[in-house]
Amino acid sequence: MADYIRVADIAEIPDPGKTLVEVDGDMVAIFHVEGVFYAIDDVCTHDGGPLADGELRDHKIACPRHGAKFDIRTGAALSMPAVRSTRAHDVKVEHGGVWVRLRAEAVAGGPPLHGTLAAPPAASALPVTTSAATVTPVTAVGSTVAAGDAGPLCEDRVREMLKDVKDPELFVNIVDLGLIYGVTLSPSSDVPGRQHVAIDMTMTSPACPAGPQLIADTKRCVAASPEVAAVEVRIVMEPPWTPDRMTDAGRDQLGIF
Ligand code: FES
Repeated sequence: MADYIRVADIAEIPDPGKTLVEVDGDMVAIFHVEGVFYAIDDVCTHDGGPLADGELRDHKIACPRHGAKFDIRTGAALSMPAVRSTRAHDVKVEHGGVWVRLRAEAVAGGPPLHGTLAAPPAASALPVTTSAATVTPVTAVGSTVAAGDAGPLCEDRVREMLKDVKDPELFVNIVDLGLIYGVTLSPSSDVPGRQHVAIDMTMTSPACPAGPQLIADTKRCVAASPEVAAVEVRIVMEPPWTPDRMTDAGRDQLGIF
């Protein structure tokens, strides 16, 4: 196990207050709250945001990028879009200084935000900005929206279909997560009588590990309709996703009020 390393004088960090230090090459956020010091990685597990730059309230630090909150005592993720703990480290006060000993991995207590989290799929990250449009011809099935049971194909019906596609970490569908920015239908030039469906979709972060899976599931889901000739998914990162884009239903599922 690593040794404790002196990182600051006690007097350097007000109460309440925080500072950023480097410990053995790792950036660590140090907090001082109600007379006690805490240390966690300066890394938001959603997409690497710098936690030491966030707003500290009681024992919670809010990531300055998309607002995920972490418990500074344990590193536990308290609100989405972060769902995994960040590393918390051992801290002691001795000889007028604050000392930190790095832990090998996150050991934060408390349950995950919702149920058992799936391991992130080993998939390549998405580019930061892209119009990665690809067209999928109709081949697959899987939607619960039956053909012809709700009138002609329209944007609202496509959005209903897309509620079958769930984020594998958050277990909330992509419509209620606010990931669908737009749906455009146009007559197919290849298959008379069918529609070409273009979907503008974002991710909760540019490097979302679930991105490739979400794109594939989106295509499969919409391509299941016999009225669809092809599905095009365009990934857009502007404007960036924020939790404000979620519907009330999505917030309810994640326990956000
Ligand atoms: S990087 Fe922290 S909430 Fe997105």
